[in-house]
Amino acid sequence: MSRQILVTNALPYANGDIHLGHLVGYIQADIWVRFQRMCGHTVHYVCADDTHGTPVMLRAEKEGVTPEALIARVHGEHLRDFTSFGVAFDNYHSTHSDENRWYAEDIYRKLQAARLIDTRSIEQYYDPVKSMFLPDRFIKGECPKCGAADQYGDNCEVCGAAYAPTDLKNPVSAVSGATPVLKQSDHYFFRLSDPSAVAFLRQWTTGANHRGVVRLPGEAANKMKEWLGSEGDNTLSDWDISRDAPYFGFEIPDAPGKYFYVWLDAPIGYFASFRNLAAKRDDIDVAAYTEATAAEAAGTELVHFIGKDILYFHALFWPAMLHFSGYRPPSQLCVNGFLTVDGAKMSKSRGTFITAHSYMAQGLNPEWLRYYFAAKSNGSMEDVDLSLDDMIAKVNSDLVGKFVNIASRCAGFIAKRFDGRLAACDSAVFAPCANAAASGDIARAYEARDFGKALREIMRLADVANQYVNDEKPWELAKAEGQEARLHTVCSTALSLFKSLSGFLKPVLPALAGEVERFLAIAPIAWQDVATPLPEGHAINSYQHLMKRVERKQIDALLEANRDSLAPATEPAKQATSQQRHAEHQAHGAAQEAASPTIVIDDFTKVDLRIARIVSAEHVEGADKLIRLTLDIGEDKPRQVFAGIKSAYDPATLTGRLTVMVANLAPRKMKFGLSEGMVLAASGDGPGLFILSPDAGAQPGMRVK
Ligand code: MSP
Ligand code: ZN
Repeated sequence: MSRQILVTNALPYANGDIHLGHLVGYIQADIWVRFQRMCGHTVHYVCADDTHGTPVMLRAEKEGVTPEALIARVHGEHLRDFTSFGVAFDNYHSTHSDENRWYAEDIYRKLQAARLIDTRSIEQYYDPVKSMFLPDRFIKGECPKCGAADQYGDNCEVCGAAYAPTDLKNPVSAVSGATPVLKQSDHYFFRLSDPSAVAFLRQWTTGANHRGVVRLPGEAANKMKEWLGSEGDNTLSDWDISRDAPYFGFEIPDAPGKYFYVWLDAPIGYFASFRNLAAKRDDIDVAAYTEATAAEAAGTELVHFIGKDILYFHALFWPAMLHFSGYRPPSQLCVNGFLTVDGAKMSKSRGTFITAHSYMAQGLNPEWLRYYFAAKSNGSMEDVDLSLDDMIAKVNSDLVGKFVNIASRCAGFIAKRFDGRLAACDSAVFAPCANAAASGDIARAYEARDFGKALREIMRLADVANQYVNDEKPWELAKAEGQEARLHTVCSTALSLFKSLSGFLKPVLPALAGEVERFLAIAPIAWQDVATPLPEGHAINSYQHLMKRVERKQIDALLEANRDSLAPATEPAKQATSQQRHAEHQAHGAAQEAASPTIVIDDFTKVDLRIARIVSAEHVEGADKLIRLTLDIGEDKPRQVFAGIKSAYDPATLTGRLTVMVANLAPRKMKFGLSEGMVLAASGDGPGLFILSPDAGAQPGMRVK
């Protein structure tokens, strides 16, 4: 029975580059889609940029462009990156689109009609300088539990505590550096605490879809159970779906100044992209995939590929939104774990925060990564480790050493000795491929997204093929008398095995499989003919080398290209001491020096001096002279600076005051951490050290010139 499936990938935020972490889930979905299509099923595969919300708004402001201009640029970059990795969406749309506004309003109005929307006033932090309410992530302060400085408004990265932003001690706005104030405002809520919503979600999260497949992986269903509690409990809270202006998003109908929260319209973007696709084609019945009754009648599927961090939105809010507005809830959530590189979180200082674009720009083959990610995917939510040496070894041994090797050892003889024409395939030798196809094991592994298992089985078949070539030694047959026919059969059979392996690998390596199809002069391989040998007398094209080996130096160059010079992990000792000199220089010395040679104004303007608010100041264990300062200069993230002023200041007296810092001094890794600038202080021959203060009215981030 042919299936009709709408497949989506999570919509990447429009304020950042696509990196290898993202690609885990996109490559998994693309492989699954290609497999389904090879099996003859109808698949519509859509995605879009997730464009709304405060981070996009602030990023655009910082770049001095409109949000529309920012998201248009990023849309092009994202699509370029996905395309280069063979992730072939049928449509790549945007949540900032007419279709999305239409669906968002429609769903909202239907939820309202179902009496599932409530309004109530809540109190939130407000930035009096920027005149805006602050999302949790834009409030920083000291952790209420452990006292760690510089923690976000939702949880502490030091002790792991979760809390409300109002629990933070000494909160500051990460947008302006101002102290936020509490302010009331009306918010709109989706009433998830309603017994009907809780009952629906209990059933939805634990059940199977119409094909008998569980909607959520077991681990995820268990998580949902914790959140949903059991019969009688009421553990779900209503969901706040509105945000106040200024906000980049859609204004809520009949609610001037109120906007849909980005997570309300983000998943709706799946439908918007699909509808936009349908408008460009004439063979898609949108309702049959999106509306509850029509979808049930048509038996269509809606399958979402997402990362584990966004499970909550897709397993609770989204199905409930759909169900209570007459749309069809998802059939299945396919959830991927997070990427680590060489066993650690991706890191800018180590160069392992690798962007998709840099990978391509370094000239690496995207199918190396597709193969490696597939080999590491087992359909579970476990994290995926990209071990760089392992990737090199695996690609070189499996793809170059085993797979491509079969063709490269046999193709030449067919061209030179047999005019490019094949003999009949030896079916006894071909049997393992035929059996593998008949057993359905590889297909089942693909279906279950256990791509690692599929590839292990395929490589076992490649071993069989290589063993055959090793045993038959066509290079010796070619020199022996009277072995012409045997040489012809061996090379032809090996190429049929190669064709079959290419078909099995095609969902993972579409570009390589395409080249094989051209080389073998065959139609695109479908799953049903993956184990059909090449026919006798068939003419093939000349063989061009199909894949190069990965070299370690290419990977090193990639890491180098991604290493963020602003975040060095290890610096030579020489530079560390030069930083200490910087620090000490602030404390002593300046006045003893002779007046410096004259400079021109351009020399001076190279130094970016900024007003900084000292968010926190603390002693540094093991340092006699240093105080660790956290300085807010109006950037997203405060700076950390080590200043040699311990002899003159008690940290407690510094917190909250304004001073002046050099903002463009190259950061230095010190023994105690990274120092991202320098504060200025005066000193003379005698004791005493005096940091600078601006006059009243100066704000963090203002330039001093
Ligand atoms: N915009 C939201 C999704 C909205 S879906 C209606 C979002 N965007 S994201 O850009 O942060 O992430 C996009 C996808 O990439 C998500 O599925 C996310 O889980 C995944 N990943 C982001 N970083 C990742 C890793 N380091 N590793 C694996 N997947 C990662 O979330
Ligand atoms: Zn803490």
